[in-house]
Amino acid sequence: GVSAEPTSGHYCGGLKAPHVSIERARVRKDSSTKKLINDAIMNNDFLKRLEPQHMREMVDCMYEKIYTEGQLVIQEGEPGNYLYVLADGLLEVIQNGKLLGQMHPGTAFGELAILYNCKRTASVKAVSQSHIWALDRQMFQSIMMRSTQARHEEYFSFLRSVSLLKDLPEEKLAKIVDCLEVEYFDKGEYIIREGEEGNTFFIIAKGEVSVTQTMEGCPEPQEIKTLGVGDYFGEKALISEDMRSANIISKENDTQCLVVDRDNFNQMVGTYEELQAYLKEYVEQLSRSDEERNAVPHSP
Ligand code: CMP
Repeated sequence: GVSAEPTSGHYCGGLKAPHVSIERARVRKDSSTKKLINDAIMNNDFLKRLEPQHMREMVDCMYEKIYTEGQLVIQEGEPGNYLYVLADGLLEVIQNGKLLGQMHPGTAFGELAILYNCKRTASVKAVSQSHIWALDRQMFQSIMMRSTQARHEEYFSFLRSVSLLKDLPEEKLAKIVDCLEVEYFDKGEYIIREGEEGNTFFIIAKGEVSVTQTMEGCPEPQEIKTLGVGDYFGEKALISEDMRSANIISKENDTQCLVVDRDNFNQMVGTYEELQAYLKEYVEQLSRSDEERNAVPHSP
């Protein structure tokens, strides 16, 4: 019969290093889509053991497919070419002609054949029209094989270009790279709210944010500046339990920030105190020049 899973090239069964570019495979998604896919991966017993970096890249490289009512997504017994996440619609799982169950939006599936290089263990069929995010097997393998070293180097050189961190000793910077997380924000989304307590430090890796602050005589917070790639905010939270002094609002869809959490940082970086002293000195310098400029928050 007709295969439920056409391959775009040849079927690549073994663990040969595939030559696929992860960079070129990324598909733009809004942050709620990314969250749906990410949560689906985290809810899957097999996929949740993957490294966070790998999960992020899987989320970025998935692309949307639409299945019509009654269409087969996976055929039991066939080789598996895709890993899937159901975004919208309803699916049923069938094994040996027996209905095993239904799958609802937010479910990752098709992971077994991809992870364990086995034949499809069951069939999956669309009960109603379904929107499904798919990642092909070669891309999955590329992501898994992309060395931790390569990613480390990428973040390392980016962090080196951030003014605050440019003079930091190499081993300290490497430790920061180890405890980074990436967060995504949509246009208009608040990343930080003035007056709230904070314990995270952000570096903008993509996009722009607006910094707004309450001013005497103004009913609404006023924009005091915008920040872009390589700029950072929330650094005061790493050195003290300060309240946030301004709002930070994403100006674009898909603003990406590298996030360092104080506790995470504390746990993973044994030399936290040294870095804390370094940052403290830096922030003190900044607040001195801030005072000179009428207490306007600093520019990085
Ligand atoms: P895979 O074997 O690659 O392809 C069929 C998919 O159906 C399988 O991965 C699982 O994601 C899913 N699946 C298999 N068995 C069950 C089950 N008993 N209940 C729900 N989903 C299943």
